[in-house]
Amino acid sequence: MPIVSIDGKQYSVAAGTRLVNAIEDNDVHIGHRCGGKAKCASCRVVFVSGEPLTATTAEHAKLGEKGFLGVARLSCQIVVEHDMTVIPQMTLESIPDWTDTGPRCLDNVEPEAVFVPISTL
Ligand code: FES
Repeated sequence: MPIVSIDGKQYSVAAGTRLVNAIEDNDVHIGHRCGGKAKCASCRVVFVSGEPLTATTAEHAKLGEKGFLGVARLSCQIVVEHDMTVIPQMTLESIPDWTDTGPRCLDNVEPEAVFVPISTL
């Protein structure tokens, strides 16, 4: 199984798991304020290693709108297929206004995922 590393800890994750859910299911309280629909960017992570070479068109559009292209990725738009090390950018502990992280994201990437090589975007 792939390993997701966060803050020096390693978690075994079933291949095919949405990264946002893999993070949350290991008790890291990452934001997902829009419920994983590529509308909020609160699920964004910085990759230390293992950044996927593809992105959904929805992720690319939202990162561009928010000014995060080349800086961060949306964990709700990424499926864990290999080892990766990430740094969540917005968590329940880091955002004083939040009383929760947002509605649970579905198991499948939405909107319907169209993965495109980043080099072509
Ligand atoms: S963009 Fe909102 S949860 Fe990912």
